[in-house]
Amino acid sequence: MVSNILKKQPQVENKETNQRRKKVFIKTFGCQMNVNDSERIKGILASLGYEFTNDWKEADLILLNTCTVRERPDRKVLAHLGEYKKVKKINPNAKIGVCGCLAQRMGEELDKRAGGIIDIMFSSYNIHHLPELLKKAEKGEKAIEILPEPPKDEWEMFEYPTIRENPYWAFITIMKGCDKDCTYCIVPQTRGRERSRPIRSILEEIKFLVKDGVKEIHLLGQNVTAWGKDFENPIPFSYLLYKIAEIDGVERIRFTTGYPTDLTDDVIKAMGEIPQIAKALHLPFQSGSNRILKLMHRYYTKEEYLEKIQKLKEAKPGIALSADVIVGFPGETEEDFLETLDVLEKVRFEQLFSFKYSPRPGTPAAEYPNQVPDDVKTERMHRLLEVQKRIMNEEAKKYEGQTVEVLFERYSDGKLIGRSSENKWVEVNSDRKELLGKIVPVKVNKASVYVLYGDIVEN
Ligand code: 5AD
Ligand code: SF4
Repeated sequence: MVSNILKKQPQVENKETNQRRKKVFIKTFGCQMNVNDSERIKGILASLGYEFTNDWKEADLILLNTCTVRERPDRKVLAHLGEYKKVKKINPNAKIGVCGCLAQRMGEELDKRAGGIIDIMFSSYNIHHLPELLKKAEKGEKAIEILPEPPKDEWEMFEYPTIRENPYWAFITIMKGCDKDCTYCIVPQTRGRERSRPIRSILEEIKFLVKDGVKEIHLLGQNVTAWGKDFENPIPFSYLLYKIAEIDGVERIRFTTGYPTDLTDDVIKAMGEIPQIAKALHLPFQSGSNRILKLMHRYYTKEEYLEKIQKLKEAKPGIALSADVIVGFPGETEEDFLETLDVLEKVRFEQLFSFKYSPRPGTPAAEYPNQVPDDVKTERMHRLLEVQKRIMNEEAKKYEGQTVEVLFERYSDGKLIGRSSENKWVEVNSDRKELLGKIVPVKVNKASVYVLYGDIVEN
């Protein structure tokens, strides 16, 4: 799907000259911000006449959009580079590009580690410089542009359309970077300080997306709830939510990721008042121990987090909650860990993303004494997953007999598939393809942890 919105449009194949279009293979690691960045990169490459391939062996350009949040993604990127470099044996003119967070963190060092095979390198700061970087690489020069901070023209990247996999929902980056100083986190190093995208640019993109058939919009930012704070005249995030809801055709709104203290009462009120806001929220808590939260530089306590959750449940009845949690942060004792399990029992998350603490170069926690041994982290992780599995099974059952609102986005083998407002996958036996792209009530007959099965409710 192309959001054919802004100044720079994808090129159409020139059938008359019958010139072969260059092929690009893109592999994306990491978070939804990276997914959205890749969609924008695809828009830029399409405007340069590239076509997309799922087979790296036939690519003229291989581009890895990387993540470095934990050690594992770092290793994955290096392993993939080792494989993809073989493309140069098949096609000596093929170029290899690396962008995203690992590129920003390591810069030229990454090229050295990969054996000098990288032709193009940039980060989330300068996606819009890709056309010039490609020209340089075409001339056989190394096109490595890792900037120390985001350039002034950063927002120009939104002049390119995105190319999305799904026609009915879209990610929209509304802010970049993060001003928090969580002691475990590499993101402020790789994505810079917080900067909010201008409101006009956001609303314009949403209007065009809606014209393109999009029903659900998913606002993105490392710390989305802090949007608007950095403007000369600050604007509350809740104001943006009301403005988006006023746009004709916006049927569902989601936002990720929020930070507990920035999820202020006005945002919770807006979530209750705006019917289009989905009944789901991802709100990382990271640890249930106040001592560990302090060491992490998270500016809330377990009690304050639980109070926020209570308010959310009151403002948006039936809200499905999810979170991120870190196990084995330096100094975490058994007692601290039990506090984390207690949060799971009290909130009853419907989905939980749990990570073993991974020391990141240059972050304060990597230098903390009392690093937790890996076997202890693994053992705690197993216990956490056991508790969470039980809770998820119990929570899933509550959907049986309930009616949920589903945006159908796919048809496959006699089944319509979509997501409910609570962010659950829902499957219905039906051939009514005309319901694709529509929000439809479905009565759930059977619920598993990840999928709800049901029938369309006929009016
Ligand atoms: N180690 C483990 N998990 C981490 N996260 C961020 N940094 C680290 C780290 N150094 C997790 C947090 C964050 C999610 C995106 O990744 O839970 O919310
Ligand atoms: Fe990975 Fe964080 Fe960068 Fe997203 S912002 S790609 S999670 S390092």
